[in-house]
Amino acid sequence: MNKNILLCVSGGIAVYKAVALVSKLSQAGANVKVIMTTSARQFVNPLSFQVMSKNDVYFDTFDEKESSVIAHIDLADWADLILVAPATANIIGKIANGIADDMVTTTLLATTAPVWIAPAMNVHMYDHPAVKRNLDRLATDGYQFIEPSEGFLACGYVGKGRLEEPEKITALVTAFFSQQVKPLIGRTVIVTVGALHVPLDDQHIISPQANGAIGQALANEARMLGAHVIQIENSNLYDVIEQLEAYKIQYPQSLFIHAANVPSIKETPTVSVEGINAVTFGQKVHGKPMISILSDSWIDFSEKAQLNGQFLDTRNPKFFAQTLWSHIIKDEEQ
Ligand SMILES: Cc1cc2nc3c(=O)[nH]c(=O)nc-3n(C[C@H](O)[C@H](O)[C@H](O)COP(=O)(O)O)c2cc1C
Repeated sequence: MNKNILLCVSGGIAVYKAVALVSKLSQAGANVKVIMTTSARQFVNPLSFQVMSKNDVYFDTFDEKESSVIAHIDLADWADLILVAPATANIIGKIANGIADDMVTTTLLATTAPVWIAPAMNVHMYDHPAVKRNLDRLATDGYQFIEPSEGFLACGYVGKGRLEEPEKITALVTAFFSQQVKPLIGRTVIVTVGALHVPLDDQHIISPQANGAIGQALANEARMLGAHVIQIENSNLYDVIEQLEAYKIQYPQSLFIHAANVPSIKETPTVSVEGINAVTFGQKVHGKPMISILSDSWIDFSEKAQLNGQFLDTRNPKFFAQTLWSHIIKDEEQ
């Protein structure tokens, strides 16, 4: 990734996860520097972050380590992206109100880099009108959020408030920078979305149920990455097979993402992926796809999918699409 990520860590129980986040970001090729609030240091010793990031850890605005620069301005300018993770209710309130009374908040006011905030707190804190008001204000000010997930919270409650997993945050960061590069400029991506039907006779068709969420997310993400996208939905599968053969000739370098569900009856014709780089989702095809993904049920309704032995969460289509595109692009580069 070779980008500078500044991680601002505030004082919640999830600080330990921020240590894993530094490790994951570094493994993904990022240069990571860390600022901690005074409260964050109650949870984890700065040494852990220093070791993981291989950089000094900052927590005191007035501890100027280098005489040639002012540390908070230098860090604010150095960062390509700033993550506030975990973000406490307190730090969210301070940023929303332009307060700059510690190293984290002062640096955040001084930066022009994008800032992503990953709230983590007790579910009642997260639902509190004051916190909601502050989050709304931050959204208006252009901050992005990594929403907390639901589950068991350290305070004993079950609900929304868990810091998103370090792997997921790292994948979002990686996808963000690869989108900036727009690696699919000049490429045509053909995506089947939702359900493709097979006619049984003149008046009847058979079609699986599908909401198209995954195919749509993959098509949207491909557009974000710069691709020319041809989206095929609610079509007769025989027509799609014919169209695909024509597209293979018209766009010889295209990528085919077969995300639509097809009926599983014996009359179902088979798509050929010969001569095209294809990604399939368990459909029977002629030829060998570049990537074949298996899910626990039809992809639109699944919870997880297996890719090269690795499980990917499919409950958030956008996140799944970003992760899958980074795999496809990496696969093609090899
Ligand atoms: C054990 C413990 C766990 C805490 N966990 C959280 C938390 O997950 N989220 C949060 O917003 N505050 C949490 N707090 C409260 C914050 O530490 C407190 O509001 C502090 O002032 C935050 O300071 P900071 O935002 O400068 O880091 C916790 C406090 C304690 C003692």
